[in-house]
Amino acid sequence: MYRRVFYASPDYIAFSRLSDGTYIDVNPGFERMLGYKRTEVIGRTSKEVGIWPESDAAQRTAYVEQLRKDGLVKDYPGRLRTSTGKIIDVEASANILEVDGELILVAIVRDVTERNRAEHELRDRETALRQLNETLEQRVQERTAQLRASETRIRSIFETSYQFMGLLAPDGTMLDANRASLESINAKLEDVTGRALWDTPWFTATPGMPEKIRASVAAVGKGESVRHEITVNLPAGVRTFDFSMRPILDAGGRVTAIVPEAVEITERRRAEDALRQAQKMEAVGQLTGGLAHDFNNLLAGIVGNLQLMRVRIGQGSTGSLPRYIDAAESIADRAAALTHRLLAFSRRQTLDPKITNVNRLVASMRELIQRTVGPGVQVHTELAADAWNTMCDAHQLESALLNLAINARDAMPNGGRLTIETTNSILYQAQAATQEGVSPGRYVTISVTDSGTGMPPEVMARAFDPFFTTKPIGQGTGLGLSMIFGFIKQSGGYVRLHSEPGVGTTVRIDLPMHGGEAQIDKSERKTATAVSAAASATVLLVDDEAPLRMLLAEILSGAGYAVIEAADGREGLKILQSPQHIDLLVSDVGLPGNMNGRQMADAARVLRPGLKVIFITGYAEHAALGNGQLDTGMQVMTKPFALDTFMAKVSESLDAGAVSQFTG
Ligand SMILES: Nc1ncnc2c1ncn2[C@@H]1O[C@H](COP(=O)(O)OP(=O)(O)OP(=O)(O)O)[C@@H](O)[C@H]1O
Ligand SMILES: [Mg+2]
Repeated sequence: MYRRVFYASPDYIAFSRLSDGTYIDVNPGFERMLGYKRTEVIGRTSKEVGIWPESDAAQRTAYVEQLRKDGLVKDYPGRLRTSTGKIIDVEASANILEVDGELILVAIVRDVTERNRAEHELRDRETALRQLNETLEQRVQERTAQLRASETRIRSIFETSYQFMGLLAPDGTMLDANRASLESINAKLEDVTGRALWDTPWFTATPGMPEKIRASVAAVGKGESVRHEITVNLPAGVRTFDFSMRPILDAGGRVTAIVPEAVEITERRRAEDALRQAQKMEAVGQLTGGLAHDFNNLLAGIVGNLQLMRVRIGQGSTGSLPRYIDAAESIADRAAALTHRLLAFSRRQTLDPKITNVNRLVASMRELIQRTVGPGVQVHTELAADAWNTMCDAHQLESALLNLAINARDAMPNGGRLTIETTNSILYQAQAATQEGVSPGRYVTISVTDSGTGMPPEVMARAFDPFFTTKPIGQGTGLGLSMIFGFIKQSGGYVRLHSEPGVGTTVRIDLPMHGGEAQIDKSERKTATAVSAAASATVLLVDDEAPLRMLLAEILSGAGYAVIEAADGREGLKILQSPQHIDLLVSDVGLPGNMNGRQMADAARVLRPGLKVIFITGYAEHAALGNGQLDTGMQVMTKPFALDTFMAKVSESLDAGAVSQFTG
């Protein structure tokens, strides 16, 4: 049985003599493990066979020492060399037996190379995993630190900026605000977060501002960017800002946040004002020379006349005195006019507004203007029959017209034609919006046109500037147009300039209409109505802009027409398809709903062939009319138009042939 174990064991079992270490016997496990034949090793020592690697000598010594001392070793880890020189890991157990009085060493050795390798591998893999884990952790830490650093950087830019910056939810709720902005209202972040932007102390102390901001936020919430100059009351006083709000959009174009930003420009504005004031003073300085010259001339004229009077009185001839008095007075008047213009320019004149009839005013000045411009210039007046009144200082308006006439005269040294025209006009919303400070409404217009030299663009650009003149010193002060501008603006109107070099210049003054009822004598109105030929005709008026429709209706019925009104194409067509008697259709082209004026008229003409039509159109709607290809009996008027022109077109249209009637 022992023998069987000896032969069958996978471990190696070796017997050797303890005294000299020679092998007595080894089992097949030995042969397999170390590659030596049994016969090769018996009778030799392990040293002689060479199963111990040289490098492990110390280990072998320790093994033998322990064996000598304790009489046995157990699971001793070591390494052995095979016959081919390969080193294998082993675990050795040994003890000493006494057989027949001789001490025999029994060694059982197990090859653990594979086991160790597997263990190593496992350990290596664990180490690698641990390292990977550590690296990952480190990476995450690094990245977090980087993010934190970049957030700190951005945050510090945000916090230390002098600009006011913040962050809003798309509905305007405050999410964040930087230090500068919070300091300006002496607030802490938690005082403002969660509130609507317009409901914060930046805006609530300024009347009207919260509404404005609320409207802006709504616009930005829809994806727009806004930017305005705003002036607000802050604890530190009234401050002006360049204020903007930008939407932040996600990939799908949705607004995810709003960034409000404000840069204070109070100081800049102040500096600009100061500069402007300084420039004005400089210009005033330049002017003084010219003015002193003018005044000296005028004074010389007055003094000269006084001296002549003294001489004549000395001579006892008093008959010529009135002439000198007249002369002196007229020169004094010119001096007074000069100071008046200076006052007008400095806007320190007190205006005396009265209801003024511009037609009468122009008519009364005709003589004076003709005399001022001289016989070389023909003066024409074209006055609107029913010109509206305006509320303004009539004397100033006269002075303005005279100034324009003098400008025209100066532009026509070789004579020419001066036309003064009055018209009633309506300014539409869309046109008003294109000009700063102009509101839509009814205006009475005075145009002064000359056939003079005209102005090159660079002169036109500066013509309204105070003290800008192209005339020699002593002849022009450059205050004429700036005074007119100041006065007309003060009166709620505006001035426009059209000029073409070599052709001439038109200055157009629009003054707001005053009151609904033009103050024209009853007798005058009667004659005006009497001239309308087809004044009993019926006009269907279709326009969605109620004020304009009412105005046209008022004027048409004032002239004796019967007027039916409709606000859109559908309503208009309903009337046109009824048996109602209609002589003329006046329709806006752009109408709400899905039927424009042209389509309505075309549909109406199916039942009323030859129906007379006047289209009113804004420039943009021309396309709807089909490039000006209009059927007979159809006419078009482009906004804006003078009411006279409109009335003329109406009666012209009605006079042109028979009025077609309902045939359906
Ligand atoms: N009708 C015009 N035709 C051509 N140029 C004109 C006309 N009106 C004004 N200008 C130009 O605009 C300038 C400024 O006109 P403005 O009336 O303000 O001053 P002025 O006529 O030069 O001097 P002032 O009116 O004070 O005597 C003129 O010097 C001239 O160059
Ligand atoms: Mg002038």
